Amino acid sequence: MTKKVIVITGASSGIGLATAEWLAAKGHIVYGIARSKVVAKGVNAIQANVTDYEQLKLAYKEIFDIEGKIDVLINNAGMGIAGSVEATSLEDAHYLFNVNLMGVFYSVKAALPYMHKTAHPKIINLGSVAGRFSIPFQAFYSSSKAAVESLSDALDIELRPFGFQVCTVLPGDIKTGFTQNRRKNKDESSRYKRRVIRSLKVMENDEQNGIDVAFAGKVIGKLVLRRRMPLHKVIGFKYQVFLWLNKWLPSRFVHWIIDKLYGFSNLKAQRGDDSYAIKQ
Ligand SMILES: NC(=O)c1ccc[n+]([C@@H]2O[C@H](COP(=O)([O-])OP(=O)(O)OC[C@H]3O[C@@H](n4cnc5c(N)ncnc54)[C@H](OP(=O)(O)O)[C@@H]3O)[C@@H](O)[C@H]2O)c1
Repeated sequence: MTKKVIVITGASSGIGLATAEWLAAKGHIVYGIARSKVVAKGVNAIQANVTDYEQLKLAYKEIFDIEGKIDVLINNAGMGIAGSVEATSLEDAHYLFNVNLMGVFYSVKAALPYMHKTAHPKIINLGSVAGRFSIPFQAFYSSSKAAVESLSDALDIELRPFGFQVCTVLPGDIKTGFTQNRRKNKDESSRYKRRVIRSLKVMENDEQNGIDVAFAGKVIGKLVLRRRMPLHKVIGFKYQVFLWLNKWLPSRFVHWIIDKLYGFSNLKAQRGDDSYAIKQ
């Protein structure tokens, strides 16, 4: 077996860690990147922040100097914010896009010079089912993941002539620390408060009863080892059905279903208190 050199961002926990452990157990050379130190058997840890392009450039140079190649790049680092669009702080919205979208761009840009020197390189970016279904009170998260998928699709066309394969992985709800790490609007507008609380409750419950993270790691690990990767890979049969229905059902009807799923229909919109908006 030829050992692949695989770099995974966001490998200190959740899906990234599970993927790193699965691939290391198969005997591949795995480098895990995160702000905290990645602790996993057989995984080489590099501390870097995906919002810092210079740190990523140094990290990928170091890996290339040691290994002489980078076969696979998995851009997995990500985070979520929750709350109404109106009450989201400019700082939180910028931060989320810096991590989830610009982090992927920086990582790809920093790794490509080395990956061009490798035969049959692969890039896997973590999108989300939430990038296809815009989730209420997760608007920035959903839009960042839609943007990641769009970036990946364009990258695939740009890089295919050089022998690259690019895949977007779209997980459904996976049980990880993502739920606890999600930032919530500190100062939510009273107009939305009841619906935000209701939707967060549904969301957190779905995530914490979601797919086992080891399964997600194995699905991504197997993509790395496949000869040909699909352009998009949805994790979870239920979510494959949702996305198939989403393609064919009228958009208004899909919104009606989302409304039902989050239990909004029996909550009247509140007029709220304008002092919040005035304070901004
Ligand atoms: N869990 C789900 O239901 C689900 C569903 C769809 C998509 N996803 C996507 O899957 C990916 C992994 O999520 P997860 O569920 O495994 O979440 P998680 O357990 O919270 O893991 C997130 C990882 O990203 C790293 N990270 C966060 N910000 C970073 C930064 N600025 N620089 C470097 N690393 C950073 C974290 O490490 P440090 O904190 O140590 O930096 C951690 O290793 C994310 O892109 C997420 O959007 C998750």
